[in-house]
Order: sequence, then structure tokens, then C-alpha cells
Amino acid sequence: MALFSSSTRQVPEAAAVPRHVAVIMDGNGRWAKKRFLPRVAGHVKGVELVREMVRTCLERGIQHLTLFAFSSENWRRPQDEVSLLMQLFVKALEQEVEKLDRNGVRLRIIGDLSPFDSRLRQLILDAQDKTAVNTRLELTIAANYGGRWDIMQAVNRMLAAQPEKCAGWTEADLEPWLSMSYAPEPDLFIRTGGEERISNFLLWQLAYTELYFTPTLWPDFNTAEFDKAIASYQQRERRFGRTSEQLVEKNNA
Ligand code: IPE
Ligand code: IPE
Ligand code: MG
Repeated sequence: MALFSSSTRQVPEAAAVPRHVAVIMDGNGRWAKKRFLPRVAGHVKGVELVREMVRTCLERGIQHLTLFAFSSENWRRPQDEVSLLMQLFVKALEQEVEKLDRNGVRLRIIGDLSPFDSRLRQLILDAQDKTAVNTRLELTIAANYGGRWDIMQAVNRMLAAQPEKCAGWTEADLEPWLSMSYAPEPDLFIRTGGEERISNFLLWQLAYTELYFTPTLWPDFNTAEFDKAIASYQQRERRFGRTSEQLVEKNNA
């Protein structure tokens, strides 16, 4: 079905509410610093805002929410911050999965999980299994994720699946191997915290996504802020390479 294809070659119907929202949740550290708190206090507050955003997505009928929680570059942070982030991840999985499940949320984690300790990996697998039948909202957490890593792991698996083929690969051959092959490409990308960069998030999938940058720090990004982002998205004209006039003709047809 064209609407749910993940390829930009097929143009999705314009929708009032984005089907898929992808977010770089940035600014936790600065939020804490402004309050003379340790950085981790910003991450703790950030988890609360994730809860609020999931609730808002359920209310607005958004079907896919993808959150960048830990990048493959974030290992470069001080050891104590990395380990506190891991502890928060474990705690969130232990405390939130039950409620997500009750609300019809399917949880998926994308990224290279191999460096995580076995307890965290097991919690991730259990959470994915437990929520696998849910269809109301698909919540994806990108953890130890990198857009370039994703493309390379997809290329490697694609080549391994058909070792006899040596040329003629297409986008459509690659797409099923990408981490987010189960979801349509993001309609709306949000980055909080004022930085205007992609930081190696979903490189392949953001090809035609509408981008929204806000100086609001993630722990302040409440429902009212999210609604502003959705309102901005609703003002955009998604042309996918066509002209404005072509879109008007299509809508009048
Ligand atoms: C985003 O907030 C959370 C993670 C990267 C885990 P930051 O921790 O990057 O906050 P700032 O950018 O230092 O304010
Ligand atoms: C991007 O935030 C990754 C996450 C929010 C998890 P960073 O704060 O790590 O990004 P850079 O390094 O400033 O680009
Ligand atoms: Mg940051």
C-alpha cells in the first residue's frame, strides 16, 4: 500500500496529523546546568517528558514515534554519565513497559545492542516480546544507534542474503534490511535544544522529512510545544520534487 511504503519514490498522501514523528531529544544537560543540578537530573526529567509525549501521540492518533535516546557517539561522554544513562534506561524499561502495554503501545529498540550488558539486553528483548501484538502506537527507541551504522549493517546483510548477485542493487533491495523497515519514513523530525543538525540519526529515512528545530530544551518540551511543531508541519507543502501547481491540480482533481 503506497501510504505505508518506506520509499520516497512513492509519494504519501498529505495527512493533517503526521504518521511518524522522529525526535532528537537534546538539551537535558543544559536544562540541569541552568538549575545548578547535575546533568543526570536533566536526563531524569527528560524521561518524564517522554511519558508526556507518548501520551500526546496516543491522543493525537500519531502511529509511530521514534526517539533518539543514545547515539553511537555518546559513548564519548564521561564514564559516570554513560553509566547513569544506562541505569535510567534499565529503570525505564522495568517501570514503564507494563503501562505502555496496557495502552496498546508496541516498543522496539533499534541500534547496535551488542555493547549493552546482558541484563539490559534481556529487558529489551522481554519488552519487545511483551508488546509485540500492540498496534495503537509504535514507539521506537534508538539506543547506540547511528545512521551510518544502520546503512552499513543493512548493506552487509543484503549482500550476505544473496551472495551470488554482484550488481544491479536497488533502493528497494536495501530497504527491508534497514532497522526501521517496519515503519513509513518520518513525516516530521523534531530536534530540541537549539542545535540544527542531524547528529547521525536516521540518515536514509529523513530524505524527505519535514525538519523542525526549536531552542526549547527537551525537559521543557511539553504537549503545548509538541503541538506547535505539529502546527508548523501542517503549514508545510510537501512537494516531493513536484511543483506547487501540480499539487493544487492533484488536490482539485
Ligand atoms: C540529550 O541531552 C540526551 C542525550 C544525549 C542522552 P544532552 O545530554 O545532550 O544535553 P545537552 O546537549 O548537553 O544540553
Ligand atoms: C544527539 O544529541 C543524540 C541524542 C539526543 C541521543 P547529542 O547532544 O549527543 O548531539 P551532538 O553531539 O551535540 O550533535
Ligand atoms: Mg546534547
